[in-house]
Amino acid sequence: MSDRYCVFGHPVGHSRSPQIHAAFAEQTGQALSYQAIEAPLDDFAGAWRDFVAAGGRGANVTVPFKEDAWRLADALSPRARRAGAVNTLLLDEDGGLHGDTTDGVGLVSDLRAHAAPLEGARILVLGAGGAVRGVLEPLLASGPARLVIANRTAGKARQLAEDFADLGAITGDGFDGITGPFDLVINGTSASLAGDLPPLPDALFAEGGLAYDMMYGAEPTVYLRWAAERGARTVDGLGMLIEQAAESFWLWRGVRPDTAAVRERLRRSL
Ligand code: ATR
Repeated sequence: MSDRYCVFGHPVGHSRSPQIHAAFAEQTGQALSYQAIEAPLDDFAGAWRDFVAAGGRGANVTVPFKEDAWRLADALSPRARRAGAVNTLLLDEDGGLHGDTTDGVGLVSDLRAHAAPLEGARILVLGAGGAVRGVLEPLLASGPARLVIANRTAGKARQLAEDFADLGAITGDGFDGITGPFDLVINGTSASLAGDLPPLPDALFAEGGLAYDMMYGAEPTVYLRWAAERGARTVDGLGMLIEQAAESFWLWRGVRPDTAAVRERLRRSL
């Protein structure tokens, strides 16, 4: 029997991860199966135990279980400990459960693939929830001149900036405190899901600035449409999804898939 992997979520029917990992496995000749499992909201640990009993070797974890997975892991990578979330579970040789997060490196890999300004750049991140916390460490490691977090609830942005202040020049504020221009503006709020746009000043982007939305869909998000109208280059989060998957695949299998080919295939199927 081939090694088993899965993604745990609730709901999980919409997940593209099975399609992505099947493409990676085919491309790299790895014998594995990958499925989507809807874990019960009140028993993530039980769902993981059942999966391991049935031959499971590792898993991706998505909304709303990333913090449950963080608590369940016997050992955490330093980046997962800092992010407060686990999106990748991996059984060690001795049966211990290792927790890691690949969301942040996934974002930065995709930004690099799109030649986004990072080193020396002025970066604005919108939102201060779990998704943003998960990407701050690798973003700061890419060497921006400054990183500003803006959030509807200003106190959460300030707290997050404080939590990461030892890693670089980072500040947090409400949306009304935003003073641009920025070379890169990343939307990490869940506002796009509801078709909402955070209140943003018109003069947000520097010349040649890039707008990135961690969300994606068949059509551009409200934020990306707004940014395009103001002359920014726009990129959605489909590539981030694929890059974080590739990093998980590498953790499990020790092989790096070719993400560009899978990105094109997935884009066509949206
Ligand atoms: P996630 O895991 O997606 O980060 P989360 O931790 O609930 O989910 O965080 C959601 C983020 O989107 C928060 O920054 C939230 O702002 P608040 O902290 O003020 O709640 C932000 N958000 C959600 N809906 C929004 C909207 N309509 N406009 C602006 N920000 C919004």
